[in-house]
Amino acid sequence: MDNRSIHGMWSSRLAFILAATGSAVGLGNIWRFPYMASDNGGGAFVLVYLGCVALVALPILFAELAIGRRGRRSPINTLLDVSREDGTSRRWSGLGWLGILAGVLILSFYSVVAGWTLHYAWLYLMQLFGGTGITDPGATFGELLSNPRELIFWHAVFMAMTVMVVALGVEKGLERSVKLLMPALLLMLLALLGYSVSTGHVGEAATFLFKPDFGKITPGVVLSAMGQAFFSLSLGMCAMMTYGAYLPRDVSIPRVGVAVALADTGIALLAGLAIFPIVIEFLGTPTGGGAGLIFTSLPSAFNKMGAVFGLLFFVLLSVAAWTSSISLLEPASAYLVERGWNRKRAALAMALLCWGLGLFSALGFNVLSGIRPLGQDSILDATNLIANDILLPVGGLLIAIYAGWRLNRQRLREQMHGAPGWVYTIWIWLLRVVAPLAVTAVLVVKLYDAIQRI
Ligand code: PHE
Repeated sequence: MDNRSIHGMWSSRLAFILAATGSAVGLGNIWRFPYMASDNGGGAFVLVYLGCVALVALPILFAELAIGRRGRRSPINTLLDVSREDGTSRRWSGLGWLGILAGVLILSFYSVVAGWTLHYAWLYLMQLFGGTGITDPGATFGELLSNPRELIFWHAVFMAMTVMVVALGVEKGLERSVKLLMPALLLMLLALLGYSVSTGHVGEAATFLFKPDFGKITPGVVLSAMGQAFFSLSLGMCAMMTYGAYLPRDVSIPRVGVAVALADTGIALLAGLAIFPIVIEFLGTPTGGGAGLIFTSLPSAFNKMGAVFGLLFFVLLSVAAWTSSISLLEPASAYLVERGWNRKRAALAMALLCWGLGLFSALGFNVLSGIRPLGQDSILDATNLIANDILLPVGGLLIAIYAGWRLNRQRLREQMHGAPGWVYTIWIWLLRVVAPLAVTAVLVVKLYDAIQRI
């Protein structure tokens, strides 16, 4: 197969690492990980999470990258080509369709939540210029959710930012933006961390986050940790497969894969260490989970710290979400380009679709609040359930089986150059046995749980 992708290529190993880390680091790391860790036994959860990353997520990440680089096209066509070459069923391209469906659904609500962060960043910016800012965080968040116009506006702004990048293509859009945004993201995180250290509560926060309470490891915690590992590493929807398609031949997949997983996990942990000392300093306790932690607890702290910190934090969160959302839009856009569409139009069309679907999530908090699909609190929660709890694990399971059992050994081995024999063997058996069993367990329990709620 061709050595270059028609969509363009990452110019270097570093460019790929930045792009893939950009995809991985998002709302999942900075908002979801800290509160999940705190709700699920701190250190115990972190330990289980690391185990899930190493034994399940990392092998699947390697597989997505390897398949992508073999095919060099959008997931659907990559899977068609690779299957044809290896004599496996064409039906495996269905995995690509599944990925696109998952990507569209995730982007639809991801953009709504990212819109909240833009709105908050804006409020803090205005406060610096004499605006009132967020005096009553609970009320501000409530007002935002009950205001369809505001929600739809910021959802549109975020989606426009996403299209802008994808429309410019792999080199001028994706690569250029991550080269600028990822260092900025790291700097902002370090600045926030610096402040946190100055509060003197980092030790407490670390104890809270890392002290293992093994009594708290229940099957439920293991499942949450695995789901989080999937979502956080952008697996199961072929986003990483698409990024792998633009990866130069000589780059070692095991090495960059490990680098991306380490960066993603490291940033999640740093986010926890930056956020909890602030919460402890200003609110006394590090509790307050879910959306509340970011959109109500933290703003109370920022009121005392100063608007600059609020601005810094929400710009950071918006940037993290931005570099993730481009990887949600890219696979489907690349597919349309392969069908002969012009890239700008392809990106715009897919973004409009996602934006339109996202309206349901946005309106679910106000006009459509009476609709509670699948026993969930809101339309956004229900979409999240279908995409994150069902489609991503199913996608991951299929990728593990496809790479582990269906593909030609020799050609797969070639993609894993740079891996010593024993690494390759461990990888194959993790893909063949460990990942499928673990993911199936997650799926069965989550489905059972979902059915119970309906
Ligand atoms: N990994 C992103 C995050 O943590 C979300 C994401 C999931 C992005 C799937 C792309 C694909 O926020």
